[in-house]
Amino acid sequence: MIRLDSLGRDIDVLVQGASRGLGREFVRQLLHSPDVGRVWAGCRQPEALALPADTPTTGLRPLRLDVSDEATIAAAAEQVARESDTLGLILNVAGVLHTREGMRPERRLAEVEQASMLWSYRVNALGPLLVAKHFAPLLPRRERAVFASLSARVGSIGDNRLGGWYAYRASKAAQNMLTRNLSVELPRRYRGVLCIALHPGTVDTDLSAPFQGNVPAERLFSRDQAVSQLLGIINGLGPDDQGRFIAWDGSTIPW
Ligand SMILES: NC(=O)c1ccc[n+]([C@@H]2O[C@H](COP(=O)([O-])OP(=O)(O)OC[C@H]3O[C@@H](n4cnc5c(N)ncnc54)[C@H](OP(=O)(O)O)[C@@H]3O)[C@@H](O)[C@H]2O)c1
Repeated sequence: MIRLDSLGRDIDVLVQGASRGLGREFVRQLLHSPDVGRVWAGCRQPEALALPADTPTTGLRPLRLDVSDEATIAAAAEQVARESDTLGLILNVAGVLHTREGMRPERRLAEVEQASMLWSYRVNALGPLLVAKHFAPLLPRRERAVFASLSARVGSIGDNRLGGWYAYRASKAAQNMLTRNLSVELPRRYRGVLCIALHPGTVDTDLSAPFQGNVPAERLFSRDQAVSQLLGIINGLGPDDQGRFIAWDGSTIPW
């Protein structure tokens, strides 16, 4: 059973990027948690959000939220504020590596395209920042709360030995810097908030599907496993974890 009792009882939660992959699995597991009240599931088409039949849906609140469109983020925050006094957990999950429109991770410099670079920054880096801008007023002023963004080990500058994947790497590195900035600023006003970046490992989702060939079976996590690992980390966070870049096994990843 997923516990978030270190964050309080009956907390309301925002998951953005909830339509597929890890985001939808976060929503599913959080709806099963005895510590969670409402789960705001932000996605581009909330009317199409589909969860497994046995998911308890009393607390489910589908929410229209496109992280590439600040107006929808602002409107989503207003909608949430009408029903939830505070959010104990904000999870930024939406991310792009490749798209149906033909965006692919670059293997070499010649493949770099301005449009892919800018789209990656817009979704992966600016998305969580604008969510912070509009949803921060919903954080509790004193109680514990967590603002977590799904990053990726390949966004680590210190860990980059392979090169390539220019847009994804750079946009995740930018996201990491913005998370670190938030970890300095937000606690000044919201004393109990912890801001962290999380690396889920390689998880069997649409995002990783074209790149799973070289991943040993024991290092390819199911969504269920990956999300319960990350929620376990979130529930175990303490003050020393402020501003950390944390991998699925709890280890620190260099920025
Ligand atoms: N899977 C892995 O192995 C892995 C490894 C490291 C890090 N991560 C990170 O984990 C996060 C989740 O990845 P995933 O594997 O679950 O990916 P996924 O299965 O491809 O799902 C991506 C999600 O992002 C949403 N999204 C994309 N653009 C959006 C936008 N403009 N507004 C709102 N939502 C948007 C998608 O919504 P639509 O359905 O509307 O497209 C979808 O729900 C990402 O940040 C990724 O970088 C994943």
